Amino acid sequence: MEVHIAWPGREELKARVELDQKNNIVRAELLGIGGPDFIQAVSEFRMKLRGPLSALPLPQGVSAQAIMLRELVLRLKGEWSPPYKDDEICHCRAVPTQVVDLAICTGAHTPREVSDLTAASTACGTCRPDVEAMINYRLKGTP
Ligand code: FES
Repeated sequence: MEVHIAWPGREELKARVELDQKNNIVRAELLGIGGPDFIQAVSEFRMKLRGPLSALPLPQGVSAQAIMLRELVLRLKGEWSPPYKDDEICHCRAVPTQVVDLAICTGAHTPREVSDLTAASTACGTCRPDVEAMINYRLKGTP
């Protein structure tokens, strides 16, 4: 299977993983494009791409690299399920969901920080629970 995750103008991750019939990783390629910290994190994680897919650890932490690698693991396991899937999350300010998601991934970890960076949730506030759900999902790896 192949997974390609790209944040516009930022990090990018490409993975190709082959599994045997028992879902063991028998071959894996992982390519990261980004800054030195990201490349280092990808290099360290590459060593973990072996053995049973179910035993692949979920990367911990709130750094951009941890968040992207966590998405990779969840996608490989078929468990990637963000809580908000529509293209636009804030209708008052016409803020795309991708813009909010990128803000979270790159350091906006509270609703206030997301609002300051994106203008989401700065009018009626109806979208705020969805923004909070996205923050929780990205930072904890679970909805
Ligand atoms: S829908 Fe986001 S502030 Fe109204």
